[in-house]
Amino acid sequence: MDVYEAIGRRRDVRAEFTGAPLDDDTLRRVLGAAHAAPSVGMSQPWDFVLVRDPETKRAFHAHVHEERAAFAATLAGERAETFERIKIDGILESTLSVVVGYDPSRGSPAVLGRHAIADAGLYSVCLAIENLWLAATAEGLGVGWVSFYREEFLRDLLDMPEHVRPVAWLCLGPVEGMQEVPDLERHGWRSRVPLVEVLHAERYARKG
Ligand SMILES: Cc1cc2nc3c(=O)[nH]c(=O)nc-3n(C[C@H](O)[C@H](O)[C@H](O)COP(=O)(O)O)c2cc1C
Repeated sequence: MDVYEAIGRRRDVRAEFTGAPLDDDTLRRVLGAAHAAPSVGMSQPWDFVLVRDPETKRAFHAHVHEERAAFAATLAGERAETFERIKIDGILESTLSVVVGYDPSRGSPAVLGRHAIADAGLYSVCLAIENLWLAATAEGLGVGWVSFYREEFLRDLLDMPEHVRPVAWLCLGPVEGMQEVPDLERHGWRSRVPLVEVLHAERYARKG
C-alpha cells in the first residue's frame, strides 16, 4: 500500500474490531513507525503503554462512558439525538490499547526548537500517533483514538508520573473491515469540508 492509499483508507475505528490476536512482529513494526516520527529537537518525547488487561480496559471504559454521558448532557434536540447513535470507542472489543504519553522532560532543558513554542513537544507526540495510525492501516489493522477521559484519571490508572501527560488512548487490532466514510459523516454529525475552504493565498483574509 503506498502512502496516499494508506492516508485514504485510514479510518477511526470503533465498531469493526474483531479482538483477534495481533502478532508481535506486526505490533513491533507499527510501534517502530510511531517511534520513527519527527520530533522537536529530536526529543522523542513519547511513551507507549500497552494495555491488554481486561480489568484495566473495563475501568477505563466505565470512565469513558461517564464522560460520554457528561458530553451528552450538554446537547439538545437534533445534536443530542444524533450523538446518541454514535459509538465513541472500541475499548472492550479491540485486541489491545496503546496509551501514548508526552514527557516534556525528555531531552530537556535545552530542547532545540521548543524555546518559543512549548506545544512543539505535544505536536511531536501527535506525529508519532499519526505514523502509528497509517502504519496500522497499511497492515490492515484498525485504530480508534479515544479522548473522552480526564487526564488525571488515566494517569492514575496506569501509574504514570505526574510530569507525563496522557495524550491518547488508542484502540488497536484486527478488524472485520474498514468503513469508507467516517463514522461521524455516516451518522450526520459532521462532514469533511472541501480543501478550498481551508486554503488561503498570501494573507489569511484571502481565501482560495
Ligand atoms: C485528537 C483526536 C481525538 C479523537 N477522539 C475520539 C473519541 O474520543 N471517540 C471517537 O469515536 N473518535 C475520536 N476521534 C476520531 C475522530 O472522530 C475522527 O478522526 C473523525 O471523525 C474523522 O474520521 P476518520 O478518522 O475516520 O477519517 C478522535 C480523533 C482525534 C484526532
